[in-house]
Amino acid sequence: MDSIGSSGLRQGEEALSCPEEGLPGPSDSSELVQECLQQFKVTRAQLQQIQASLLGSMEQALRGQASPAPAVRMLPTYVGSTPHGTEQGDFVVLELGATGASLRVLWVTLTGIEGHRVEPRSQEFVIPQEVMLGAGQQLFDFAAHCLSEFLDAQPVNKQGLQLGFSFSFPCHQTGLDRSTLISWTKGFRCSGVEGQDVVQLLRDAIRRQGAYNIDVVAVVNDTVGTMMGCEPGVRPCEVGLVVDTGTNACYMEEARHVAVLDEDRGRVCVSVEWGSFSDDGALGPVLTTFDHTLDHESLNPGAQRFEKMIGGLYLGELVRLVLAHLAQCGVLFGGCTSPALLSQGSILLEHVAEMEDPSAGAARVHAVLQDLGLSPRASDVELVQHVCAAVCTRAAQLCAAALAAVLSCLQHSREQQTLQVAVATGGRVCERHPRFCSILQGTVMLLAPECDVSFIPSADGGGRGVAMVTAVAARLAAHRRLLEETLAPFRLNHDQLAAVQAQMRKAMAKGLRGEASSLRMLPTFVRATPDGSERGDFLALDLGGTNFRVLLVRVTTGVQITSQIYSIPESVAQGSGQQLFDHIVDCIVDFQQKQGLSGQSLPLGFTFSFPCRQLGLDQGILLNWTKGFNASDCEGRDVVSLLREAITRRQAVELNVVAIVNDTVGTMMSCGYEDPRCEIGLIVGTGTNACYMEELRNVAGVPGDSGRMCINMEWGAFGDDGSLAMLSTRFDASVDQASINPGKQRFEKMISGMYLGEIVRHILLYLTSLGVLFRGQQTQRLQTRDIFKTKFLSEIESDSLALRQVRAILEDLGLPLTSDDALMVLEVCQAVSQRAAQLCGAGVAAVVEKIRENRGVEELAVSVGVDGTLYKLHPHFSSLVAATVRELAPHCVVTFLQSEDGSGKGAALVTAVACRLAQLTRV
Ligand code: BG6
Ligand code: GLC
Ligand code: GLC
Repeated sequence: MDSIGSSGLRQGEEALSCPEEGLPGPSDSSELVQECLQQFKVTRAQLQQIQASLLGSMEQALRGQASPAPAVRMLPTYVGSTPHGTEQGDFVVLELGATGASLRVLWVTLTGIEGHRVEPRSQEFVIPQEVMLGAGQQLFDFAAHCLSEFLDAQPVNKQGLQLGFSFSFPCHQTGLDRSTLISWTKGFRCSGVEGQDVVQLLRDAIRRQGAYNIDVVAVVNDTVGTMMGCEPGVRPCEVGLVVDTGTNACYMEEARHVAVLDEDRGRVCVSVEWGSFSDDGALGPVLTTFDHTLDHESLNPGAQRFEKMIGGLYLGELVRLVLAHLAQCGVLFGGCTSPALLSQGSILLEHVAEMEDPSAGAARVHAVLQDLGLSPRASDVELVQHVCAAVCTRAAQLCAAALAAVLSCLQHSREQQTLQVAVATGGRVCERHPRFCSILQGTVMLLAPECDVSFIPSADGGGRGVAMVTAVAARLAAHRRLLEETLAPFRLNHDQLAAVQAQMRKAMAKGLRGEASSLRMLPTFVRATPDGSERGDFLALDLGGTNFRVLLVRVTTGVQITSQIYSIPESVAQGSGQQLFDHIVDCIVDFQQKQGLSGQSLPLGFTFSFPCRQLGLDQGILLNWTKGFNASDCEGRDVVSLLREAITRRQAVELNVVAIVNDTVGTMMSCGYEDPRCEIGLIVGTGTNACYMEELRNVAGVPGDSGRMCINMEWGAFGDDGSLAMLSTRFDASVDQASINPGKQRFEKMISGMYLGEIVRHILLYLTSLGVLFRGQQTQRLQTRDIFKTKFLSEIESDSLALRQVRAILEDLGLPLTSDDALMVLEVCQAVSQRAAQLCGAGVAAVVEKIRENRGVEELAVSVGVDGTLYKLHPHFSSLVAATVRELAPHCVVTFLQSEDGSGKGAALVTAVACRLAQLTRV
């Protein structure tokens, strides 16, 4: 186009050309006018069809399905969150492509205080026509030159400048600062830029220019700048609309709906690029002969058909084409035309806006037309106003249909019945054309009645928003660095895990030999896994996990279990020993009554999940309490005696306690009943521990050299001699210090459910203190001990959860947070649970390798019976354990069997075996 730019109208010194023949009569004229204006009328049905077709194109493009016709592009922008309002700093913004032939440079200061704005300083430069259509390098050199000219005049510190680049053309972005131009639109056509990274081109030009050292931190589309510049209000501003030289919108989409992104968490701002929408079925009926002519004569025929009906670059041209046509038909200006009226680009957007404005009055219209070299009559003025109104009304309605499509898309993606949203509007058509805005808003209400939309005009163009994105990009990069630094000690590499495995092997050997070791390697007097010949009815107790259970176990050809859960209040778990055992007996009595077992003295197996030095199957001295238990006067005493004493105190019952069994052993036995290769028991629940079948010859302190015995490793205490100090983080230290047993169970405190949530909470507190999370605001909730239960970790890390649901979980906990926060919390949880699973895997690897060595085999196939809520409920824990074991013990094929019935069944089986053997000895 020839004369876009700010030069204004050509003066009307050129001659009018008038018809030689007669003009049409008044009735013909009005028909011609009607026919002409009628073409610009769009019915509601047509708008709805455009809305539906555009929505279809949008959803198709999101799914990554190529469409045959160039439709909307749906380009992800890498802007993942709307502004916090806390962004601050000084930023340089360079705007290219939003407003016709001008380039703007701004100095934006963000104060970080809501409502407190500092007016940006800015300067506009007109881009010479030959640069807009010349070589790309020339354009970017021009931009770099404008930048230094602007900065030279600024009284500011020019070191370490951070720049946001507003580049308003369709681009494939691959990062916040990487963006490849797909194709020029509007009045630009510079060679050698399409297919190139425009950030790099700008950086190169700045370097060539050499005057300033500027870091180009982010590149954004003008729609994104508009959205981001919106003050955070009552409702989220999640849509940006621009109608300037061109037109487009962006909105916040769920990342998982954007097929090209390999990301299923969080949101991302998508630039629709609706200017290229061109569905023949929907647009065809509303295209006029003038639209076809305009397209034909444009720089990019066939492209941007939708934009050419709405964008400010084209509205003046459409008006010009209609006026020229009406003049040529003799309806206007006495049938006379002027060279200006017949020249492309002679009517600009501002002229249309002026002429259409009813308050401007006839004199203004007259003046504009005269400037075009025309001699308008009074009736011409009115008709010209009608033409302007028709062209602009259609533009506003089409724009509304497109915006309604975006709102519907947003509503679908949020799965909401009604959508409350704010739309930030920008661009000269929106800003300076009140009629355009009111028609746009009215039509949106009509087309998207289920959306409650408020329109917020952008205060100072997109500049502030671009600075926001730049600030966010800079802040995110800084926060990410801090998050990574914080989580780095949790990310264990192969060598570190292999070292844990090796240390564990050493500690096992020492423990077995009876030397000082953090692994006690306690003999359990269980010498064999079940062989299926066990029979009888047994009672079982299961104390020490999340639940206390009393069970009736019937062993025939299979096993039948009836059980009941009883609670152990914290006051009892941490009260006097007598109180605790009296409570246990009360529960047994209650169970017996309910099951009709009163008066019967069934053999009883007691799963007691704490470290005990056993002297036989039915004798176990509690070495120390672990987990949340701390009842007085029990440590150093035989637990079976404590139970028997309580039974005596209760008088009413008779119980025959046959065996005391650790939960790892109960689990191994229970799984061993199904799979004879099960020689290891593993618990990852409230606490963590493992047991396995060791060769008796290796076990000091138990007579006999042949056969095997199950060893309760009590691996929770691994590292209590300081050997894990290298891995311990400041957060582990805090958790340990705040526990009821500081310095004890250090391995357990890095792995098990009772502590993982606390580790996460301490990390979150720390990240908050760094300002990385929750905008640096400590909440009372986060200071509350144990608010993070294991089950939250398992829920949060579930693959099927959208970030929205993660947020909801955390909000339920009373933590108000943004999507960015939620993503970081998730990453913290992942790092903590991953380390736990890997450490656990290193432990299992040590055990299976020990068994392989015992057997002297090249390859070992072995099964591990596993129980515990963390292992069972966490979405990734079990696979991470298995992967670590495969890595560290490549010669062992390890199968993990989840215990279905709890360890009470195993305790009953141990009891059954003991009863069978006792009978044999009696015989
Ligand atoms: C149960 C066993 O299923 O798991 C208990 O029956 C064991 O004996 C427990 O202690 C461990 O898991 P949690 O998560 O309950 O501590
Ligand atoms: C054009 C550009 C688009 C921009 C819009 C408004 O459509 O392709 O990126 O947002 O104009 O300036
Ligand atoms: C604790 C106990 C241990 C038990 C484990 C799992 O570590 O000390 O005996 O096996 O928790 O419940």
